[in-house]
Amino acid sequence: MMKKIAFRINRYDPESNEGSHFEKFYLDVSEQKLGELTVLDALRELKEERDGSLTFRHTCGHGSCGSCAMLINEKNRLACKTHVVDLEVDEGSFVEISPLPGFPVIKDLVVDDERFFDHDSQIMPFISGKNTVDDLEEERQTPGELDRIMEATECINCGACTSSCPTYWDNEDYLGPAALVRAFRWLEDSRNVDRNSRIGILDDEKDGVWGCNKVFNCVEACPKGIDTVAIIEELKRSVITA
Ligand code: SF4
Ligand code: FES
Repeated sequence: MMKKIAFRINRYDPESNEGSHFEKFYLDVSEQKLGELTVLDALRELKEERDGSLTFRHTCGHGSCGSCAMLINEKNRLACKTHVVDLEVDEGSFVEISPLPGFPVIKDLVVDDERFFDHDSQIMPFISGKNTVDDLEEERQTPGELDRIMEATECINCGACTSSCPTYWDNEDYLGPAALVRAFRWLEDSRNVDRNSRIGILDDEKDGVWGCNKVFNCVEACPKGIDTVAIIEELKRSVITA
């Protein structure tokens, strides 16, 4: 038996005068296929069969690259890891898809992430303080040392957390939860030597770690289940005790 799934997709084309608006699409899906259909599968099918101009980002297709984050039924999610069946779409309701909030939109579901990645570069996303060949020899970590940063290493830099943060909406210089989680990962890596350069960037009342107001939207948004606020709190302790 076939089921008709309705989608309401936010469209925006900078070359048209139409402005941002929603368009409805329908997809006929068999009961059997519905169990496996992700929002990304649906978008690809709609693009192939209904409207080739529908624009969205995706790469890995399995929750590793972070490129397919978007607002799906009022929650930031990864399109490739969101099954349509889990959105409980009944007759008369629809899957609503919009670009990540708080980021400028380039086209349809594609956002401009330049500022987001600029913040990531600011936190120095690498092990710092090792400059000689000897320095770069293999270094082992104890299970405890790895455990300290393990949760933060799960971050795929998808932007779902930062996009949901009201502080980030208000202050475009605030590093945001993703950059702060990743700062913790690099700062607290047992192989990192230079702590002070990164702490100098993080120790800022408005734009750094102290800008976090613990709204908790970011925890709710993270598709990897990372407790972003707990990590930011831990990062605050690292900054205080530096
Ligand atoms: S912390 Fe979670 S939501 Fe934020 S960028 Fe990393 S994976 Fe995405
Ligand atoms: S396409 Fe890579 S996370 Fe979805």
